[in-house]
Amino acid sequence: MKVGVLGAGQMGSGIAEVFALAGHRVGIFDVDKSQIEKALRNIRWSVEKLTEKGKVKDVEEVMSRIEVLPGVEAVRGDDLILEAVFEDFNVKIDVLRKASEEANDESIIASNTSSIPITELSRAVRMPARFVGMHFFNPPVLMPLVEVIRGDNTGPIYFNRAIDIVRGLGKTPLPVRKDVPGFVVNRILFRIFNAACGLLGKYTVEQIDSVAYYELGFPMGIFMLLDYTGLDLNLSISKEVAKRGLRLECPPVETLVKEGKKGTKSGAGFYNWASRPRIMMVGGGPDPKEIVRPAFEEGKWLIREGIVTEEEVDEGTRLGLGLKEGIITLSKRLGLS
Ligand code: CAA
Repeated sequence: MKVGVLGAGQMGSGIAEVFALAGHRVGIFDVDKSQIEKALRNIRWSVEKLTEKGKVKDVEEVMSRIEVLPGVEAVRGDDLILEAVFEDFNVKIDVLRKASEEANDESIIASNTSSIPITELSRAVRMPARFVGMHFFNPPVLMPLVEVIRGDNTGPIYFNRAIDIVRGLGKTPLPVRKDVPGFVVNRILFRIFNAACGLLGKYTVEQIDSVAYYELGFPMGIFMLLDYTGLDLNLSISKEVAKRGLRLECPPVETLVKEGKKGTKSGAGFYNWASRPRIMMVGGGPDPKEIVRPAFEEGKWLIREGIVTEEEVDEGTRLGLGLKEGIITLSKRLGLS
């Protein structure tokens, strides 16, 4: 398959790598040349890591499948065009409009949006029936889950084809049956972020992250994850979902972004990333139930709305967020009902 990835940030570069690892030919484009150079360096580093671990044989073979595209029009004729630009409605609409004008009648067009309903974006796409959500998790190469979102205009054939493409990458697809802002896993993650943010002041970042890591079995602290995914991205997502009725406010994130602290990518955020921060075991933190209760309620809402099943919520949060237990199982074990 020939794949065109538009946007070479953390997600775009990771997605391009995933397709190249699976044997596909990938073209990648970004308006910012330095972003492309950084993306190629990051992909090479990651593929080398996988080689050290015996998961990949030949770094150069994988790299040779990745080509830098001169412009959006170069996606012409690609089997899959995947938009992974910054999480801003207008930026995405612009790229999707241009790309879909180039798409041939066989192409599938996908967006890696983390929060914007696919139906809204589909209005900019020339062939809305061929347009789906394909939402990868950071880092795409390590996270096994991809949400596949069916917008109101997505044709069932193309939705199923997108699911097959995800399976072909060796990933687990999570079919999202209703196009709600933030889809499934992020809606749950937003509740976790919000709960943690609301506890700041009463507790420190270190105390909350200690509970998340040592008591809840999260793979990293909650504030560490915010840094890892990017505070600027989190802020954009909050703005996009707020326009659609989902309030997610964390004033400290806004303050940090204003100070130029975007998390891992800028070297500082809630943590200082000059050297790799570790989560210390510290006492006096919040009751773990306070962190997961809103996420549990969100999970129950998603199930009631028929968007996913209980098993899918659990599988989605295990594979998309690296939790040891899915959020429903974990919450019930803590005594929530
Ligand atoms: N490619 C290849 N190897 C990588 C890598 C990459 N991109 N990133 C890390 N590694 C390697 C590390 O170098 C390390 O290698 P060594 O064993 O040789 O040291 C190994 O993988 C393990 O990594 P870490 O030691 O850093 O730690 P870890 O075991 O905790 O795994 C993690 C890292 C997979 C990121 C894990 O912490 C995790 O699952 N975190 C949660 C991530 C998450 O929730 N993602 C979703 C975020 S939300 C999102 O993405 C949605 C959105 O729309 C915003």
